[in-house]
Amino acid sequence: MTRPPSLLQQAHRILENHLHNGDIAIDATAGNGHDSLFLARQIAPAGLLYCFDIQSTAINATHNRLFAADLRHVALLIQHSHAQMAEHIAPEHHGKIKAIMFNLGYLPHGDKTIITQPDSTLLALNVAAELLAPAGILTILAYPGHPGGENEAIRVANWCYQLNSENFGVKTINSAEHKDSAPRLFIVQKLTATA
Ligand SMILES: C[S@@+](CC[C@H](N)C(=O)[O-])C[C@H]1O[C@@H](n2cnc3c(N)ncnc32)[C@H](O)[C@@H]1O
Repeated sequence: MTRPPSLLQQAHRILENHLHNGDIAIDATAGNGHDSLFLARQIAPAGLLYCFDIQSTAINATHNRLFAADLRHVALLIQHSHAQMAEHIAPEHHGKIKAIMFNLGYLPHGDKTIITQPDSTLLALNVAAELLAPAGILTILAYPGHPGGENEAIRVANWCYQLNSENFGVKTINSAEHKDSAPRLFIVQKLTATA
């Protein structure tokens, strides 16, 4: 029996059909650089990818992965919290970002005590909603299964569903695994320029 696609694979499929060469995108949680590499491939050679992470280990891993794929030149790597994203994105790119990915939680194979925090995640989501281009897509993968993760997933869900439905479309995709602790994917699409 073939396994259903993971939530991460589903996020990638949605963005694969949405992104093109020359687009601007953000990886808000660069981690080991897998999502950054995916995004860079979609928008290269003419696009620009902003990658954020608070850990130098993650920034280094992302650098190495992009470099190995000959895509390092497409990305700006920024070791700062995504809550401060707006300050690091060129003013002329505000409102022009085609896709923003958040992959919450801790760095796989890294320090599991350093995790995304609901307060800064929500601050960053507010900024992300502003930065998106019309029709731009925000994907948020939340993991309720680790300590602190459940609260964060609930806060993210509440944030998504308080968005003005005239300005944003929201969809939640649950894991095939029907457990409260299973990951959840939130897809938010900006519908208008004024949101
Ligand atoms: C699940 S990992 C990301 C996985 C990554 N997207 C990949 O493809 O490998 C979550 C990452 O979020 C980072 N993180 C935690 N708090 C953050 C913050 N406030 N701003 C930016 N990154 C943060 C962690 O350091 C960790 O590397």
